[in-house]
Amino acid sequence: MHDMTAKKAALVAYEPHPNFAKWHRLFPTTAWMRRKAPRNVPRFAFEYGDTGAGNDVGIAHNWAAFDAIKITPRYGLVVTPPPVEVELFGRRYSAPIGIAPMGGPSLVWPGADILMAKAAQRARVPYTLSVAGGATIEEAAQNAPDVFWLQLYRFWRDDHKIGFDLVRRAQAVDAKVLALTLDVPVRTTRSRETYAGLAGEFHPTARMIYEMMVRPKWLWALLRHGYPRFATVSEYARARAGTNEVIRFARANMGGAFTWEEVKRYRDKWKGKMAVKGVLHPADAEKAVSLGIDGVWVSNHGGRQIEALTPSIDCLPAIVAAVGKKATVLLDSGVRSGQDVMRALALGADAAFAGKSFLWAVAALGDEGPAQLIDLYIDELRASLGQIGAHSPAEARMATIRHPGAIDFSVAKSAARPRRDKR
Ligand SMILES: Cc1cc2nc3c(=O)[nH]c(=O)nc-3n(C[C@H](O)[C@H](O)[C@H](O)COP(=O)(O)O)c2cc1C
Repeated sequence: MHDMTAKKAALVAYEPHPNFAKWHRLFPTTAWMRRKAPRNVPRFAFEYGDTGAGNDVGIAHNWAAFDAIKITPRYGLVVTPPPVEVELFGRRYSAPIGIAPMGGPSLVWPGADILMAKAAQRARVPYTLSVAGGATIEEAAQNAPDVFWLQLYRFWRDDHKIGFDLVRRAQAVDAKVLALTLDVPVRTTRSRETYAGLAGEFHPTARMIYEMMVRPKWLWALLRHGYPRFATVSEYARARAGTNEVIRFARANMGGAFTWEEVKRYRDKWKGKMAVKGVLHPADAEKAVSLGIDGVWVSNHGGRQIEALTPSIDCLPAIVAAVGKKATVLLDSGVRSGQDVMRALALGADAAFAGKSFLWAVAALGDEGPAQLIDLYIDELRASLGQIGAHSPAEARMATIRHPGAIDFSVAKSAARPRRDKR
């Protein structure tokens, strides 16, 4: 009974923000937000949030892969913009759209973590806090009680002492989903972040100080929301440790990819729904599901690891074919519009997530940015589904799709090669 009431509440909760029309006129798509963002925030902050690995070719591939997917509609049906509520991991959300975990978003816009959490709660869509984010698990959960998900990196030291303590804290605040990120086995270089002076510890140069001084809106946000920090991690470092000490602490305690054995250990500790993030190969998706994982989050980290990674959207159909009946399939990397969300749904995803575009939104519009972007995605998704004759997100799968980049793993070269699962 209680569950039914909660489900109904989620269904009626979504209303666009009162300022939606005003902002929509100024920023009709995310491209407008991205264009405006560097004019409001210090250059190093914009570069940190916007950069890809190497020369950004991975980002370009992600975008091109989405753009290449074409849908042929059918007409002759009565269609109005359809409702877009969905059920994910047994809970209702207003739309199959979520905020992907991001470390350090408060650098791009001070307070960004909590602004995103609040916006997601308001709209009833998933908000994922990164363990490297600028709010603690408890702060984020308090601001997004119905939609709070937590993402973890691998804190391996002392037999995962910190990792398992993070699981305990997530359990205590009733996080709805725990996601383990698999796709950062090594540290790589993001060139624009490096050039901007942010590739390691934070030592503001004269240039960076100048960049801050000429961005009064950002400085005002800094005054209101406070200095960016690695809030969750800093709780394990020395009391009152400065930012650089926390960075050094995190590097000494965290790193590498979770092994399948470790995934299983976290699965056994965590009592709720659990996903693995960063999967691109259907065999990895199958392995995760065989260990009791409920969700497979198809992602190439938004092109931020190396440029050569396959666009996640091109891996999606094979992963849906492999595990779609047994697990929830989520997708991110390259989503920039409601049309992209529709493309992901049409190819079998249960929901799509976005990272960078939320940083463009908060940098371009300030505190209202995240709420505005959620509304924009929902508005565009409803229009896109209506246009192809779908009466619901699930009906997008019935569309006629041309997807030239889709990977056929049965003929892909590596299929014949043995792979070591243990080391
Ligand atoms: C600034 C930034 C920080 C990120 N930090 C994390 C992180 O801490 N953990 C994680 O799993 N993914 C992280 N990601 C990747 C996102 O969760 C997501 O996979 C990616 O941004 C999606 O692609 P998109 O940016 O094209 O939407 C980060 C992305 C960005 C842009």
